[in-house]
Amino acid sequence: MEFDRVVTCMGAVVMLAALSSCGGMGAAPYRNAKLPMEQRVEDLLGRMTLEEKVDMRSGGTWMDTRAIPRLGIPALKMNDGPLGVRYWSPDISGTKGSFGTTAFPSGISMAATWDPDLVQREGQAIGQQVRAFGRNMLLGPTVNIARLPQWGRNFEAYGEDPYLASRMAVAYVKGVQGEGVIGTVKHFAANNQEFERTRVDVKVSERALHEIYFPAFKAAVQEAGVGAVMSAYNKVNGVWCAENPHLLTEVLKKQWGFKGLVVSDWASTHSTVAMERAGLDVEMPGAESLKEFQKDPIYSRFGFIGGFASPDKLLPVVRDGQVPQSLIDDKVRRVLGVMFTSGLFDRQDTAPTNTVDTPEQQAVARQAAIESMVLLKNAGNVLPLVAGKVRSIAVIGPNAAVARTGGGGSSRVTPKSSPPSPLDGIKERAGSQYQIGYVLGCSMEGEDKVKETATARAALIQEAVALAQKSDVAVIFAGYSPDTEQEMYDRNLELPAGQDDLILAVAKANKNTVVVLNSGGPVLVGRWIGQVPALLEAWYPGQAVGPAVAAILFGDANPSGKLPVTFLQRWTDSPAYANYPGKNLTVEYAEGIYVGYRHFDKKNIAPAFPFGHGLSYSTFAYSDLQLKPRKVAAGQPVEVSLNVRNTGSREGAEVVQLYLRDVKSSVDRPVRELKAFRRVVLKPGETQAVSLSLGPAAMAFYDEGKKDWVAEPGAFEVQAGSSSRDIRLRGVFELTK
Ligand code: BGC
Repeated sequence: MEFDRVVTCMGAVVMLAALSSCGGMGAAPYRNAKLPMEQRVEDLLGRMTLEEKVDMRSGGTWMDTRAIPRLGIPALKMNDGPLGVRYWSPDISGTKGSFGTTAFPSGISMAATWDPDLVQREGQAIGQQVRAFGRNMLLGPTVNIARLPQWGRNFEAYGEDPYLASRMAVAYVKGVQGEGVIGTVKHFAANNQEFERTRVDVKVSERALHEIYFPAFKAAVQEAGVGAVMSAYNKVNGVWCAENPHLLTEVLKKQWGFKGLVVSDWASTHSTVAMERAGLDVEMPGAESLKEFQKDPIYSRFGFIGGFASPDKLLPVVRDGQVPQSLIDDKVRRVLGVMFTSGLFDRQDTAPTNTVDTPEQQAVARQAAIESMVLLKNAGNVLPLVAGKVRSIAVIGPNAAVARTGGGGSSRVTPKSSPPSPLDGIKERAGSQYQIGYVLGCSMEGEDKVKETATARAALIQEAVALAQKSDVAVIFAGYSPDTEQEMYDRNLELPAGQDDLILAVAKANKNTVVVLNSGGPVLVGRWIGQVPALLEAWYPGQAVGPAVAAILFGDANPSGKLPVTFLQRWTDSPAYANYPGKNLTVEYAEGIYVGYRHFDKKNIAPAFPFGHGLSYSTFAYSDLQLKPRKVAAGQPVEVSLNVRNTGSREGAEVVQLYLRDVKSSVDRPVRELKAFRRVVLKPGETQAVSLSLGPAAMAFYDEGKKDWVAEPGAFEVQAGSSSRDIRLRGVFELTK
C-alpha cells in the first residue's frame, strides 16, 4: 500500500518537475548541483520541519524510506546484495514481483580470485543493475570475517583474513558507488554466526576487533567512501550493535571519520533513546511492513524485534528533550549528504530499463566464476581432461544437474535466464568427442523425500558405482544447496545427505575420480580426500557455474583461485571450537586475534588445505626477493620486489602473497599475516617482476592500552609465497626508532 503511494508520487516522475510543483523551491540553493554538498545539505535541512526530519529516520516500506515530496527529497530505495541485485516487491517474502538479474559469484568466490580489479567490475555491473530498476542503494557487501567454518553466511563474505577482505570490500564498493548507487558494508560488527544471531552477546577484545573484525569496514569507509554501514543483529560486549555508542559513534564516526549513514539490520533495534544516542541513523524496515512481518512465525522464532524510530515513538522523546534535536539534525544531515553525493537530487531515476544481464555483465560473471575456482588437489594430473586420453565421463552427484548459483537467504538472486548446470556445461563442451553418462548418486537433503530412504540411497549409490566402473573418469558434483547452506542457520561441516559415502563408493570403483564442491566455506574432506586424486572447490559461482566448471575441467581455462579460508582437518582444530555455539547466549572470542590461519600457524596444526593454497595446470618459480630499504624509519614504507616465472607449459595466473612477521614484539603476534598480494598472468616461460609496498600500517598492531596502532622498532621478516604454508622466499628489514 504505502509502497504504491510513494511510487506514484516519486517513481517515474521527473524529479525537477515534482520539485517545482510540490514546493516552489525551484531556485533553492540545495537544488543547485554546482554548490558544495555541505552547503546544499544545510540549506535543505533549514527548510525541514521536525516532523519531516523524523519521517526520514525510518523506513516507509520493507526496502524504502519515505520520500518528502514537498521538498523533492527522494526515498532511499534499497535492494539486497551482495551476489547481484535482489529485487524486492513490497511483499516481504520477496517472491511476488521479484524478477531476474545477473547471479554473480558469491563473496567467497570473489575473495578466491584475489583480483580486486575484477571485483570492482562486478560491483560496477551490480550498480548498473540497481540503477536499471530505478533503485539507489545496495545492501552489500557483506564483510564479516569467516571466524566459524560452519557460519551459514560464509559464502556471502570474503573469508578469514582482514587484509584480503579489505581489498575486496574497497573494490566492490568503488564499483557500486561509481554508478551513483549507495553501497552498504554489513554487518557491523562481529556478526560471525547465524545460530542465535539476533540474541547472542559476542565477548571480544578491542585488539581482535581492530585487527580482525574491523579492517574491512574501516577500509570501505576510508578508502572507498562507502555511503552506508549496516549495524548487526548481535550484541558486542554487552550492547546491541544497533545501539552501541562505542561501535557506531566512537569508532565508526569519530575515529574513522565516517560521514555516511548507519542503517539498522532488518528488525534489529531494541529501544528508541539508546539507539538515537548511540548513532543509528536509519531504521529498517518501515512500521507497516514490520507489522506484516510480526505475523510471520519466523519473527519471534528468530528473535527479530525493531520498530523504535517510527514517528510515534521518536517525536515524543525529541519533544521532551531525551533526544536532542541536534542529534536528529546530525542524522538527517548524513542521510541528505549521502543522497547528494550519490547524485540522487540531480538525476531522474527511471522505471525499469533493459540494461540488466547485458552481454558485458554476463561476461564479468563468467570470468569471475572461472577465476574463483580453486584446484585443491590434482594428483597425477588427472585434470585437465584431455580428449583421446579420456573418452567416457561419468557425471554424478546432487549438484551435477542443478546450477548451484548461490547460498540461501537475503542474498539470493534469481537469474534472469535459467542457468546451465555443470552437467549442461560438460555436455555442451564435450560435444561428440566424449561420451557423457549421468546419474544422481544421492539426493540433496530436502529435495526429494522419496529418494532419501535408506534403500533408495543404497540403490542410487549402486547406480553411480556401475556408471563409474564403465567410465574413464568420474566427476562427482557434491556440496551444499541453498537449503543446506543459508542465512539464519549455521551449517554442518560434513557434506549433507550422505555424500561422503557416495564419494567413497565411486572412488573405489574408479581411480580417476574428481570431486567438485559447491560450498561457501571449509568442508571436512578427511573421510575421502586420500582416495580421490582431484578436488576442485567451485564455491557458489553464480549463473556461469556450468560453463565455468567445464572450462576448468577440460583445461580451456587454467585454474588460478586461492583459498580465502583454511580448510581444517577436524572441527576440534578450529579456533572457534571451544566457544561455539556459546553458553547462555554468550560467545567468547577467546582465541582473540588468532582466527583462521593465524591460529593454525600459532598452534602448529596441519590444515587439510592452507589459506592461500590453490593449484594451477602450470607451475611458478619465485626468485630475487629484494627489500628497500633494509633499515626503514618509522612511518616509511618498505618496497618489496621479486620475480615470478611460469615454469610450466601453459599460460596461467599466480597470486603472489606477502606475509609479514614481527620478529620480536612486546605483545604476542602471529607467525605470519597477509599484508600484500598481486595476481599476475604469465605466458609459459615468462618472468615478471612484482613490486609491492609494505606501509607503516602493515607493521603495526593494535595497542589496547594506547587505544592506537603501534609499530615497534626491530626486525620484521617478509615471507613471499604461493600460499601461507608454501613460503618460497624470505627477507628481513629493520624498523628503526
Ligand atoms: C540480513 C541483511 C539483509 C536484510 C534485508 C537481514 O536479515 O541480515 O543482510 O540486508 O535482512 O533483507
